Amino acid sequence: MPFAHITGWGMYVPEPILTNDDISKLVDTNDAWIRDRTGIRERHIAREHEFPSTLGVEAALKALAVANLAPTDLDLIICTSSSPEYIFPATACLIQDQIGATKAGAFDLQAACTGFIFATNMAAQAIRSGSIKSALVVGTEVLSRMVNWKDRNTCILFGDGAGAFVLQASDVPGGVISAVMHSDGSGADALSIPGGGTRFPATEATLHEGKHFVQMDGKEVFRFATRVMGRAVVEALESANMKIEDVQCIVPHQANYRIIETAAKYLKLPIDKFVINVERYGNTSTASIPIATVEGLQKGRINTGDKVVFVGFGGGLTWGAMVVEWTGPIPANKKHIYTEQYRLFARLRSLLRRVWRHIEGFFSRKEL
Ligand code: ACO
Repeated sequence: MPFAHITGWGMYVPEPILTNDDISKLVDTNDAWIRDRTGIRERHIAREHEFPSTLGVEAALKALAVANLAPTDLDLIICTSSSPEYIFPATACLIQDQIGATKAGAFDLQAACTGFIFATNMAAQAIRSGSIKSALVVGTEVLSRMVNWKDRNTCILFGDGAGAFVLQASDVPGGVISAVMHSDGSGADALSIPGGGTRFPATEATLHEGKHFVQMDGKEVFRFATRVMGRAVVEALESANMKIEDVQCIVPHQANYRIIETAAKYLKLPIDKFVINVERYGNTSTASIPIATVEGLQKGRINTGDKVVFVGFGGGLTWGAMVVEWTGPIPANKKHIYTEQYRLFARLRSLLRRVWRHIEGFFSRKEL
């Protein structure tokens, strides 16, 4: 059975920054309250021309460059987002088109903030089964367009950004070792965007009631998160036959500093075992774990051979954890891949395919 290694990683956040002081001009809040209750100082906000797919493409191309893998060699793309571009088509298909991943199947996976762990696990399982050799997993968010900027309970929390992993098959042991995935739909209403689906299709009334914005019972989500985070880590370690002492680093979902602190206490670990960057990005939902991973790698917090645990929770309710032996890119005598060239090729290919579809449509109409 092949092993599923994480061989590439990338992140992208839009340039504009919104500080707590900026938010205090929109709603009745202040920097001290937000920092004290959440640990967040600032977050990045997508510009008008940026969307989940475009942020995801930036992160994906960086991850492919680290792995030195051409988009055309990808077998599978899984995108996970709490703020997808459309209900359908899948954001994964938009990313597939924009990077020119010509042979990859692409779909979205919805598990709110836990999505990145679920998606990485699904990609690893597909690799382990032998049915594919490589996969791209993208977590990407433009949540700034889904929050009500008049609701101080939610608008202080979220930020925009994207992160991506490339996974590849190898006979060398390592990579994704174990994962646990959990859900409890009885808590579905604790965190949701109720409007715009088929339960509450878009109407003037749903718009007026703000049903298209994130709705959250903050206290309930806080209690749930502090209950499940530590337990999920222990469970994933047990299934990997490992102990907490074997772990060099934990990369948690970045929702709130206090939630991470509670998990550290439960696991009896010093807080510096956790990669934390919530102060600069806020909660980027499905993108928060890969973004924190990339920063952990850049700062030398994660190294080859380390045992790393990813742990997350989110709407659904969902939660999960994953144990990984960090290996990095697979050494190969391959020529260097310039991912930017693939972006250009993808644009041209997409345009030609659209034109061709038009021509085909014209002639098939004539035949009918
Ligand atoms: N600024 C100032 N005061 C505020 C603000 C604000 N932004 N928000 C609430 N308050 C007030 C409240 O009105 C309340 O005032 P009162 O005592 O006069 O009634 C007081 O501050 C305390 O409010 P609480 O809601 O009790 O504050 P709490 O300590 O619970 O913190 C928070 C709120 C930060 C939202 C916390 O509950 C939390 O982090 N919950 C988890 C949220 C989360 O992680 N969500 C994402 C999940 S992942 C995903 O799937 C998207």
